[in-house]
Amino acid sequence: MEIFGVDIGGSGIKGAPVDLDRGDLARERHKVLTPQPATPQGVAGCVAEVVGHFDWSGPIGITFPGVVTDGVTRTAANVDKGWIDTDAAALLGERVGGPVTILNDADAAGIAEMTFGAGRGRKGTVIMLTLGTGIGSAIFVDGRLVPNTELGHLELHGHEAEKRASTKAREDEDLSWQHWAHRVQKYLLHVEMLFSPELFIIGGGVSRKAEKFLPLIEKVRAEIVPAELQNNAGIVGAAMAAAGK
Ligand code: BGC
Repeated sequence: MEIFGVDIGGSGIKGAPVDLDRGDLARERHKVLTPQPATPQGVAGCVAEVVGHFDWSGPIGITFPGVVTDGVTRTAANVDKGWIDTDAAALLGERVGGPVTILNDADAAGIAEMTFGAGRGRKGTVIMLTLGTGIGSAIFVDGRLVPNTELGHLELHGHEAEKRASTKAREDEDLSWQHWAHRVQKYLLHVEMLFSPELFIIGGGVSRKAEKFLPLIEKVRAEIVPAELQNNAGIVGAAMAAAGK
């Protein structure tokens, strides 16, 4: 079965039909740049453009980089504040002309990893963390998601964790891998203190460079592995959510 998935990110909005049996894109994805500022109307136009590229009709799953409850976007840490309390399901559904399912971006990536990637078959508490512009989180207990956990906003030594340990922080402050790994370790130790997971899955673009920083993280008890689906996890997870998986 195929369902359309769209991933709304800070720099790009990308989407493709997803083959839900394989957990992979059924066609090459289409990407447009995220408008700045990333207002609801501006982003909705881009989502419509991505979907329109494929001449798609049918259910669509869409990720959003903030809290989403019942199709309403509740927070907007790294996008335009106009998203707060927007009925995004109605807005986007009207623009793409069909039913849409909207969920948090890290939750979507986590759903995909738990079925087709690094979390396949894993029981107990598994925490996916996406280290990108912000830090996204998805907690699974015996494979079941606890949505909208927002662990990127935990306070760490007087700072918001995502301002210190995201990929954006590493790039903005031009940190060495060693320095940044030290910060990521502190963050993981804090999350471990709270939840004692068996497994951390580290996602975001930086998961492709896992060998540069994961070996430097030695004090965390839980197993730590890079995400396997990498760039397409959000698109695949969005489609899975729209299919009710
Ligand atoms: C947002 C989360 C999101 C994460 C990654 C955070 O700033 O609050 O909802 O999952 O960034 O995009």
